[in-house]
Amino acid sequence: MARETWATRVGFILAAVGSAVGLGNIWRFPFITGQEGGSAFLLVYLAFIALIGFPALLVEFVVGRRTELNPVGALQELGSGAWRYVGYLFVATGFIILSYYSVVAGWFLRYTVIGVTDGYAAGAADPEAAEALFGSVATGLDSLLFHALFMVLVVAIIAAGIRSGIEVAVKVMVPAIIVLLIGLAAYGFTLDASAEAYAYYLSPDFGVIAENWTSILPAAAGQAFFTLSLGMGVMITYASYLGEDRNLAEDAGIIVGLDTAIAVIVGFVVFPFLFAAGLTPGDGGAGEIFVSLTAAFAEIPAGRVIGTVFFAMVGIAALSSAISILEVLASYLMDEFGVDRVPAAAGLGVAVFVLGVPVTVDLVFLDLLDLFADSILLVLGALLLALFVGWVASDAAREELEIGIGDLGGLGEAWIWVVRIPVVVVVAVSLYLGVVEYAEFLTEDFADWLAAR
Ligand code: PFF
Repeated sequence: MARETWATRVGFILAAVGSAVGLGNIWRFPFITGQEGGSAFLLVYLAFIALIGFPALLVEFVVGRRTELNPVGALQELGSGAWRYVGYLFVATGFIILSYYSVVAGWFLRYTVIGVTDGYAAGAADPEAAEALFGSVATGLDSLLFHALFMVLVVAIIAAGIRSGIEVAVKVMVPAIIVLLIGLAAYGFTLDASAEAYAYYLSPDFGVIAENWTSILPAAAGQAFFTLSLGMGVMITYASYLGEDRNLAEDAGIIVGLDTAIAVIVGFVVFPFLFAAGLTPGDGGAGEIFVSLTAAFAEIPAGRVIGTVFFAMVGIAALSSAISILEVLASYLMDEFGVDRVPAAAGLGVAVFVLGVPVTVDLVFLDLLDLFADSILLVLGALLLALFVGWVASDAAREELEIGIGDLGGLGEAWIWVVRIPVVVVVAVSLYLGVVEYAEFLTEDFADWLAAR
């Protein structure tokens, strides 16, 4: 059977934007920005996206389009045998990320339902009630059921294929995300607290950057890779379905631009909400955003409707990202073992569901997996791929980039050199810092948790 391809250029771009825009932009970006000092972090993050993220996205695109294969097959074909292990790393990373990503996405679905059935007022009167609500959503039977529901949606889209599954879904979802987000930002603008929120978000304090660069730098690098879906072969896989030769640099520019614009707009939504409820951004981690936003939605006018729309929008964004991860895993089974699409999607869906179950039992497993995946696996994957394309397959990569663009002259060479040195160095430093951070987590938080058992 001939390999499937995207029906349209817009379909490919929307699929990649759908993958990029997800929990990373909406759930992770505001609390990381809050933790790292607001606008100072924003500035460093934007620099990373342009200088490291954009060239790294092109790296994945050329590998995918050149080989028309899943990441394992692609690296095997372009490199020698040992490079296929990098492909296995991508597949393993996909399993891990999707397992907890689906659990967290399930929380957003659950909060959407709560908005419809009960509203968020209960949490406002009493912060402890908001915490308790989050606890009951995040772990236990509810969490398990919504994790299952979310995986069923992901599997259904992937089982339907590239054109009638992913492409149809993203053509609805991505415009919906953009419209809802702009509406929510406009609403945020009408809140009294918006001026204070914008000031916090938009006036960088260079002193903060100078003081905290050792934590801002790796956080910005990790966030840049996570948000652009880099370091685990998603963009390789999506580019492998490109039937024709288009200008990849232009497509990458549009994708990076849209993902970044959406992340920036999310700040214009979340920070006014938080300031309106008298809350300080960045006080806590994964659960904090749920607890503080429900408090905010209880406080602001029409908060119940706004909250429901907000949580639904995040659920949609998570779905358009999760499908890209399952597609990496499915393409591997289809290309390498000849498995049909439907059984591949269904079987993988069950496996990912099972792997996510511990997260629904205790949130310590969320930290265990998320920190490991973000600060080690994705960064390691991106580093190995940059080394591969920069130093091993650079001729093929440059040639592939020029197909659809024309002779790039010195620019193609410049891109390779950016990948060879700055990208490799920055990513290697981030990896080192990430390993240190993870070791700390294992020996402190996780050890405490184990000891309390
Ligand atoms: N880019 C997605 C987000 O920002 O939520 C998350 C993600 C998807 C990360 C796919 C990695 C990946 F391969």
